[in-house]
Amino acid sequence: MAIAIKTAQEIEKMRKSGRVLRQVHEAIRAAVKPGATTMDLEKVAEAKIAELGGRPAFKGYMDYPACLCTSVNNEVIHGIPSHTRRLREGDVVSVDCGVILDGYYSDAAVTHAVGKVKPEIQKLLDVTETSLEMAIEQVKPGNTLGDIGAAVQEYCEAAGFGVVREFVGHGIGKKMHEDPQVPNYGKKGKGTKLRPGMVLAIEPMINAGGPEVKVLNDGWTAVTLDGSWSAHFEHTVAVTQAGHLVLTD
Ligand code: MF3
Ligand code: CO
Repeated sequence: MAIAIKTAQEIEKMRKSGRVLRQVHEAIRAAVKPGATTMDLEKVAEAKIAELGGRPAFKGYMDYPACLCTSVNNEVIHGIPSHTRRLREGDVVSVDCGVILDGYYSDAAVTHAVGKVKPEIQKLLDVTETSLEMAIEQVKPGNTLGDIGAAVQEYCEAAGFGVVREFVGHGIGKKMHEDPQVPNYGKKGKGTKLRPGMVLAIEPMINAGGPEVKVLNDGWTAVTLDGSWSAHFEHTVAVTQAGHLVLTD
């Protein structure tokens, strides 16, 4: 499949979608605290998306039941919000959300510390978030998907962390998942060249231990194979003539 090149008008629509999504994430941030359930976060997201005139991108996607993925501690991605999963001081929760506004998708994820977390876990969060920033710095015309993947991989592996291979970022636009795939590993200079008008969801998923993951029997929740904790940060990013525009911050 060819990679869709978006017009300036389309990117402006995606930016509006991304702005709604950012406000949803800010509302969730305020709700993350010891004692909250992951379903409490879901309710905050559902209300905020509706208030801002958007639609949830995940709910109903391949029969996924919620607006959010809420993945706690050893859960990597696609954790399903639950009335019984109560956050405790020292936990981490990765919150992934997608919004549709005026036909255009945006997708972003943040991993929150619940209260104060162990120093090595705070380092996992910091390294993962920084790796996303480093990946975004690589987004400019002429650079390649390999430059993005290598930026994440080199930085996170140097810190001693495992880079998840089974799940990757993706193109995004009129659909949540478009071509190309955007791996968090790769070789500088290799792979598809970036062109103005491409829009990518870049989403490092990084484990404190090994890179291997497995999917639980609910068919969704991906957890680390070794039980180590995991972090996930994601932005929707447009390639522009000048370099890039982050649509979800
Ligand atoms: N951000 C995830 C992704 O990029 C969300 C999809 S999960 C689903 O694939 F719940 F919507 F299926
Ligand atoms: Co995504």
